[in-house]
Amino acid sequence: MTKMLVTGGAGFIGANFVHYTVNHKPDYEITVIDKLTYAGNQANLAGLPEDKVTFVQGDICDAELIDKLVSETDIVVHFAAESHNDNSLRNPWPFVETNIIGTYTILEAIRKHDKRLHHISTDEVFGDLELDDPNRFTETTSYEPSSPYSSTKAGSDHLVRAWVRSFGIKATISNCSNNYGPYQHIEKFIPRQITNILSDIKPKLYGTGEQVRDWIHVDDHNSAVHLILEQGKLGDTYIIGADNDHVNNKMVIELICELMGKGKDWYDHVNDRPGHDMRYAMDSTKLRTELGWEPQYTDTQTGMRDGLLQTIDWYKANEDWWKPQKDAIEAAYAKQGQ
Ligand code: NAD
Ligand code: DAU
Repeated sequence: MTKMLVTGGAGFIGANFVHYTVNHKPDYEITVIDKLTYAGNQANLAGLPEDKVTFVQGDICDAELIDKLVSETDIVVHFAAESHNDNSLRNPWPFVETNIIGTYTILEAIRKHDKRLHHISTDEVFGDLELDDPNRFTETTSYEPSSPYSSTKAGSDHLVRAWVRSFGIKATISNCSNNYGPYQHIEKFIPRQITNILSDIKPKLYGTGEQVRDWIHVDDHNSAVHLILEQGKLGDTYIIGADNDHVNNKMVIELICELMGKGKDWYDHVNDRPGHDMRYAMDSTKLRTELGWEPQYTDTQTGMRDGLLQTIDWYKANEDWWKPQKDAIEAAYAKQGQ
């Protein structure tokens, strides 16, 4: 058995990763550490076998706790972060604290106990591309983050690289594009629109909706993370993306409307996000050629129809999970004309 510490395992991608691991990788015993911020929910881990998954509520900035947990594990998969751009524009401090100081705290424990780390990061560290730019982000694209969120993620990536080079820690990094799927917090674009329609509220599109996000189903992200854990080269970075960089926000909202039985244009245009990144596009050639990774959600049209149908069904079946937060989230957006 390999012992794995998963930070942020009660959040969207982390919880899906824990489920994925229990279902596909029987050789892991998992400890989740999660602060249970507004974005974390222990219910995301309900039903998992107790002999496989242990939950610890705690903060990754708590050096004593992190030191103990890292000393007891073989590998750390580091998802914990403040993750929402819009929140980082309202109050950047928690982003600096968790994403930078939290990652530093984990790195120091990894260094002391000589354990393996995989650091989860984002395409947003590269900034954005023009809408008509045919280029894609690669492992060597320079960093140019736009928001407090993405700049703190960029800082965390630099810390990991510095600890690899200066102290020789055993670490890999992955930068992934926008995920969607079950358990995603309803502040985010896709679940916000699905739960709007389920609440008889029109979906809300920022600005013109021309912005492109290279969407990937969360299970495809997590299968890539496992491959990197198993076969990734220590010290290396891997881009993860599913080739959906032809899909803009307007197309996604129209597809959600169609799949949920609404007219294609049953949505509102609302205020744009300040500093809104225009286009993300990922070149995952290295991951595909060196490690043989392939995404599973690759249907035609937008490349998202099957994944969106599964995601819509999940939100329909789990109203108790999202309903209690819906009014407060929409009220916060409404204050900003969004
Ligand atoms: P999320 O906001 O849904 O979950 C984050 C989790 O981290 C929550 O459970 C929260 O309680 C926990 N957390 C926050 N601060 C903590 C702290 N100080 N100590 C311990 N736990 C803490 O985020 P997500 O969308 O699941 O993103 C997970 C990771 O993946 C992040 O590192 C994010 O940058 C990265 N990422 C996300 C996407 C995406 O599309 N969502 C894409 C690429 C990379
Ligand atoms: O690219 C990876 C990143 O994707 C991750 O690093 C972040 O953690 C994750 O939150 C996500 O960031 P985005 O800012 O791209 O995701 P969000 O879901 O907030 O918005 C997606 C796009 O949809 C973006 O262009 C803004 C737009 N949008 C968002 C909301 C909430 C709308 O048009 N309407 C909305 O209501």
